[in-house]
Amino acid sequence: MTLSRRDLLRLGLGAGAFLAVGGGAGRASGRGLREIQEADLIHHTIPSSGERIPAIGIGMRNYRTEWIEEEGRYRRTIEAFHEMGGRVLDTAPSYGDSESHLGRILEELGVREDMFIATKVDRRGREAGVERMEASLDRIGTDYVDLMQVHNLRGWETQLETLRDWKEEGRVRYLGITTSSDRQYDQMARIMEREELDFIQVDYSLGDRSAADRILPMAREREIATLINLPFGRGELFEAVEGEPLPDWAGEIDADTWAQVFLKYVISHPAVTVAIPGTTEPGHARDNVGAMMGRLPDPPMRRKIEETYDAL
Ligand SMILES: NC(=O)c1ccc[n+]([C@@H]2O[C@H](COP(=O)([O-])OP(=O)(O)OC[C@H]3O[C@@H](n4cnc5c(N)ncnc54)[C@H](OP(=O)(O)O)[C@@H]3O)[C@@H](O)[C@H]2O)c1
Repeated sequence: MTLSRRDLLRLGLGAGAFLAVGGGAGRASGRGLREIQEADLIHHTIPSSGERIPAIGIGMRNYRTEWIEEEGRYRRTIEAFHEMGGRVLDTAPSYGDSESHLGRILEELGVREDMFIATKVDRRGREAGVERMEASLDRIGTDYVDLMQVHNLRGWETQLETLRDWKEEGRVRYLGITTSSDRQYDQMARIMEREELDFIQVDYSLGDRSAADRILPMAREREIATLINLPFGRGELFEAVEGEPLPDWAGEIDADTWAQVFLKYVISHPAVTVAIPGTTEPGHARDNVGAMMGRLPDPPMRRKIEETYDAL
């Protein structure tokens, strides 16, 4: 039996197994194995730069505990994600000690330059914002982050001003704003109208599609990249399908699990750049990366997914 690289990746066996089963070292010459794996994943383009990034990342809201055994699990999760070609990691200074875990893990694995690191600033004043961001860079152990976001729009006017300076200085590559609440959509839309943003981050999932009414179409029209938080509705989507077999049509979009159906639904929206499901489990990270492989739902299939979910 010949196993394709996709089969191996889905089994979580990674690049080493690919070569052992017959990829052949010669095929890999000149390019790292990880790069070859990354090239197979679905990528989307950041409109403000044209840079392409893999369409699923990891949200690190739960990387909080200081138990050393837990950090081992966190490290294995990031390692599995990195090995399969994943890049985007989203953290925040308010996620307990998530940024410190991230800093140690990046150093231990030696993978800082492979990753696209997003964090946030959540202060109102200028000085307080600068201090908060400098502390984030220290904890992550980096001179720059790829994306700095104004968390829940807090102090957005002041922080965006600082961020423009930081971008010039190369301390952030992209800037943006976040929310995960419908109540902030009006304000978010007003900021999107008047400010030049590289990214917005907003909640969107099969269980809560309201961002698709206005925010996502606006992001597309204004050429702003999007990070999507809560793609599993904080895990509620799994509760909704508990005990439900995966429908036959899942095969038509190359989804092997409900998680992959949920993520393929999100990343097939034309305004979505990257979904950032939260996970602290290596097996879940592999499962989620699997949603960046194979086919994505077209509009009729997206409607079928919605109907199936709504009928549960
Ligand atoms: N305003 C903001 O800026 C804002 C607000 C909220 C969230 N966020 C960002 O968005 C990220 C995602 O949100 P979230 O983590 O709260 O919610 P989520 O991604 O909707 O759901 C996370 C839940 O799904 C589970 N899960 C993940 N992959 C799975 C899989 N393949 N199979 C089964 N279960 C799976 C996780 O458990 P395991 O850990 O066991 O995998 C966790 O319980 C956050 O981590 C954060 O980075 C930003």
